[in-house]
Amino acid sequence: MPPEKGTTKRGRRVRNCMQQAAPQAFDRVLSSMCTEPHPAARAAAERFLATNPSDPATYAEIADRERRAVAALEDIAGLEAPTEGPDTEGPTRGYVTSGGTEANLQAVRSARDRRGVDDANLVVPESAHFSFAKAADVLGVELRTVPTDADRRADTDAVAAAVDDRTALVVGVAGSTEYGRVDPIPELVTIAHDSGAYCHVDAAWGGFLLPFTDYAWNFADAPIDSLTIDPHKCGRAVVPAGGLLFREPAGMDVLAVDTPYLESPSQASLTGTRSGAGVASTVAAIEALWPDGYRREYERADRVARWLAGELRNRGCAVVDVALPIVVADLGEGAFKRLRARGWRLSRTESGLVRVVVMPHVTRETLRAFLADVDEVRADVEAGASS
Ligand SMILES: Cc1ncc(COP(=O)(O)O)c(C=O)c1O
Repeated sequence: MPPEKGTTKRGRRVRNCMQQAAPQAFDRVLSSMCTEPHPAARAAAERFLATNPSDPATYAEIADRERRAVAALEDIAGLEAPTEGPDTEGPTRGYVTSGGTEANLQAVRSARDRRGVDDANLVVPESAHFSFAKAADVLGVELRTVPTDADRRADTDAVAAAVDDRTALVVGVAGSTEYGRVDPIPELVTIAHDSGAYCHVDAAWGGFLLPFTDYAWNFADAPIDSLTIDPHKCGRAVVPAGGLLFREPAGMDVLAVDTPYLESPSQASLTGTRSGAGVASTVAAIEALWPDGYRREYERADRVARWLAGELRNRGCAVVDVALPIVVADLGEGAFKRLRARGWRLSRTESGLVRVVVMPHVTRETLRAFLADVDEVRADVEAGASS
């Protein structure tokens, strides 16, 4: 007998597979820097999924979008438009990477090759993302990690002591992964340039929030040489969409290799074939949200983060002062594991504090439910301790 419509002999297994294939909902995700893409970004990604911006001469439509994406990112990051239009198919001062890791790695690679010294080193604050450890390893550059100050920002004396005539790059973080801190970027540039090194700002997460703050972080604020800004984090593009920008085309040029079998003569990206989804969704998200949509979201996230910090303090928890919207708190022994067991997707800083990143999907309503669970698990822990 033929199976019933919609089922097979193994109908049950098929249904199970389909259930497993559903993407995870964001409603309990509290520590991730990914979020729900903007609907226009999702639609654009779908349309350009199979095009390859790494071969701009063949895929002219997506190449045009990548020029628009980079121009928009430059605008957000305070880089003035070039006086002459590009005479190449693709963008000349940056590109849409697979994420912050690729952007940071390529910034290190560019600085290493432009600096041209033997045994080059890279100076980063200890708050820098682990992608710099990968970059240093892959590129054969010595990684010099220096302490941060009491407010968890790069300590400029420590950076100055670490640089020497073999330093290729000094990194400042504008929106650190654990605490949302912004390093003293103008001071770091001076230290870097005085020693002949380049200066890179990692604003992978912070880049779409910082335009609405008073922080000095971008090309307009200081003579930095390169910057990471990821559309797939606070920019609301789809994953994967990172952003790398250089002040000068020379930063990109040094990355380019000849590509004899393609229609396009050279390629600067680290990956070869790239999906056009990241590029197209970056343009769509920025067109939909820059600047007012991003401003509204920054203001909302800032309010929510400060409210959450207050709620946790009222409960007697030690909470780190909020800078950009990440709340870091000590919820006490045992709470973290119990909260994860209740389905909260939560992570901790290296020092063991719980970390909530207020991304667009993290609402007050979600956090009220979270706080109710915090109260219950802390009561459980206390009851366990006193029994
Ligand atoms: C500041 C910073 N830089 C770089 C990265 C790496 O980005 P990706 O995971 O997109 O490679 C992250 C990731 O969270 C980050 O927070």
